[in-house]
Amino acid sequence: MQVRVFPVRVLRGTISVPGDKSISHRAALLGAIAEGATEVKGFALGKDPRTTLEVLRRLGVRIERKGDILRIHGVGLRGLKPPDGPLYAGNSGTLIKLISGILAGQEFHSVLTGDDSLKMRPMRVVEPLRLMGAEVSARDDLYPPLAIRGRFPLKPVHYALPVASATVKSAVLLAGLCAEGRTTVEEPAPSRDHTERMLGAFGARIERRWLREGRAEDFERELERRLRRAEGEGRPLRVQVSVEGVARLEKQRVAVPGDISSAAFFLVAGAIVPKSHLRIRGVGLNPTRKAVVDVLRRMGADIRVEEERLVCGEPVGDLVVRGSELKGTRIAGALIPNLIDELPVLAVAAACARGETVIRDASELRTKETDRIRAVVENLRRMGAKVGELPDGMVIGGRRPLRGALVDSFGDHRIAMAFAVAGLAAEGETAIEGAEWADISFPGFFELLERISRR
Ligand code: S3P
Repeated sequence: MQVRVFPVRVLRGTISVPGDKSISHRAALLGAIAEGATEVKGFALGKDPRTTLEVLRRLGVRIERKGDILRIHGVGLRGLKPPDGPLYAGNSGTLIKLISGILAGQEFHSVLTGDDSLKMRPMRVVEPLRLMGAEVSARDDLYPPLAIRGRFPLKPVHYALPVASATVKSAVLLAGLCAEGRTTVEEPAPSRDHTERMLGAFGARIERRWLREGRAEDFERELERRLRRAEGEGRPLRVQVSVEGVARLEKQRVAVPGDISSAAFFLVAGAIVPKSHLRIRGVGLNPTRKAVVDVLRRMGADIRVEEERLVCGEPVGDLVVRGSELKGTRIAGALIPNLIDELPVLAVAAACARGETVIRDASELRTKETDRIRAVVENLRRMGAKVGELPDGMVIGGRRPLRGALVDSFGDHRIAMAFAVAGLAAEGETAIEGAEWADISFPGFFELLERISRR
């Protein structure tokens, strides 16, 4: 499907964005292996989290929806049923990796596959899950389909991730629930920590520490401070998280905040269209997710956080953005995992900014739903921007007015939405090929954009 986007004079309004996709996947998965019925409010609406529910149903989990509440009838850590055929993870890298961690501890055989994009993505869960004692095979030892013959109990491991990855970390922690003893994952920089927070809330014993200075008394409070400092100093920030197995999880009530990765499109749109004024309600502001706000502010964006509060262990607030002049910046180092999904739209902001922006240390972008470095560079060039491609990022030359053009989503939801935002600030018409991919995380995105646009 092709969607055409036209320049706008101003963006105005108060909006909400879908529930956080990462938190939704986790709430469904943990609810499924907990004891009793977990209730989830504000579960994400996109296709990916719905695929997670389908996969859980195939594993014998009963899930009902009553209005805004999703009820997941947990079957306990060992109550999942062997599936009657391959499990289809669609486009979702998070689902296939997290569920692999759970299936590694189930004494049956399962096969996981996905769409053409997912089958091209590296499954770095294969190695740690094998070390824990599960039999795992993959195409070329790395790509889906994955075949898993689980084992119970698993062996606990100490696994150091070569690259910060919340999905691989989460898979090992979830497998750790079925291991006898303590499983530890080490990361070169802190990736999103929803799994750790939620496992703690469901009653698992979780401990986090900084590598150099041992155990932190208050890890979560310290996290924000250290992430900021690392950003300034470009320092590595190694962390460890451990989980005790064999665990028993207790049902929970989860309230899912708005997805900051979805809000990011409106933060950039509101910032690059002069005189705009948008309020985005109830957005999750977890310190491992909100680097996009810090970077946009550094670029000169006028973004305020209002009504900050804590909901189910996750910080939440309203984001208020006003149009302003942006300037180029450097985005690299320990910050990258905390804004990895926002980089395409940040690149669009950079193309509208004064001066050069350099993005480095982001080679992970090449392993996402599409090669996001290639896709962003290609589309920005089609729109007349000056962009240099780097193996681990890009250099975006300062402001040249963007020209409307025919761009492609490359089958990637975030590329489709990032270039819709670019279209608002371009001259003339922008046509987005494959715009329907936005439904993966944000059904109704284009309608919402239209609702707040004034021409
Ligand atoms: C996610 C982690 C990130 C992110 C993805 C969601 C998660 O992936 O890009 O969209 O929910 O844990 P990686 O762990 O592969 O970096």
